[in-house]
Amino acid sequence: MSKISAAITAVGAYVPEYVLTNQILETIVDTNDEWITTRTGIKERRILKGEGLGTSYMAIKAGKDLIKKKGVNPEEIELVIVATATPDMKAASTAAYTASQIGAVNAFSFDLEAACSSFLFGMSTAARYIESGKYKKVLLIGADKNSSMINPKDRATCIIFGDGAGAVLFEPNDEQLGLQDEYLRSDGIGREFLQAKAGGSSYPITAEAIANNEQFVFQDGKTVFKNAVSNMADVAVKILERNNLTKDDIAWLVAHQANKRIIDATANRIELDHDKVMMNIQRYGNTTSATLPLLLSDYESKLKKGDNLIFAAFGGGFTWGSIYLKWAYNS
Ligand code: UT7
Repeated sequence: MSKISAAITAVGAYVPEYVLTNQILETIVDTNDEWITTRTGIKERRILKGEGLGTSYMAIKAGKDLIKKKGVNPEEIELVIVATATPDMKAASTAAYTASQIGAVNAFSFDLEAACSSFLFGMSTAARYIESGKYKKVLLIGADKNSSMINPKDRATCIIFGDGAGAVLFEPNDEQLGLQDEYLRSDGIGREFLQAKAGGSSYPITAEAIANNEQFVFQDGKTVFKNAVSNMADVAVKILERNNLTKDDIAWLVAHQANKRIIDATANRIELDHDKVMMNIQRYGNTTSATLPLLLSDYESKLKKGDNLIFAAFGGGFTWGSIYLKWAYNS
């Protein structure tokens, strides 16, 4: 009997309407369009406005988009995973609320947090449930409202991050399409270089913490950049080598959108032509857990059944990894 493989069979997406351009940022912090464009590749990002609207608002929209496009009955979805670094609330599952709101009333659900690698690790998790043979429909949503933890006056972070959500459906595949291999890593040495110090269990929010802006994300960009470049490229090379893939076998690199220079460096290390590199950082910035599914949504019409996709991500913690997946459908 051949092994059940876990394939992506549908994609959905949502980005908020409000567009925060580099030109608007020039009026808020000491920066300029030329610096942001050359150092990051970002031109604009989306920001979720509206009182009381959190990550679930976007996760629900992306989930509903997928359900409508695929024509799937939400009552048949058995598991909803929300990959996010910005859950709606503490002590209440964002995934549980999302699942109920999209009509996945028979599903169980949980949040998965691994900073910018959340969606990549979520792909691994979703695939295991499918491969077990017990589950037939697993919905994985990557969603983040980064604007909820970014200091709009900190030019080291406010130029990079944006809000958004994307969703994929995993189903069993009997043609051996879908997830083929993965190499996932983490190293706790990274947490001092990218973190929001206050608001978690180590340092609960206090008036003093707020006075020091410690509820916002701090990033030592240079250190994170160096680690991202070397680690993301290393894992992509490893995945290629151990699956005997050359650059000619790869249809697309689907890399976390944190900085165009990091993505270019990864593509260069595997000697991949740049027209095989998915890129939408210019429009959305770094949407953390949403970058990979937003890429799939933007490029879905170009993807062909059997295409070899190499995913790669790097994020806070540090967390990073690469996944090799064979695309399972023509749209
Ligand atoms: O997704 C999670 C993982 N995150 C990442 O992968 C992000 C990794 N890091 C980066 O993408 C980059 O480090 C940044 C985009 C954050 C920063 O780019 P950089 O090339 O590392 O710049 P830098 O921090 O070394 O700063 C270079 C110069 C400095 O000026 P001096 O000291 O050379 O005079 C900064 O003060 O650029 C200045 N600078 C800015 N200038 C205009 C820093 N931020 C800005 C800004 N606008 N926003």
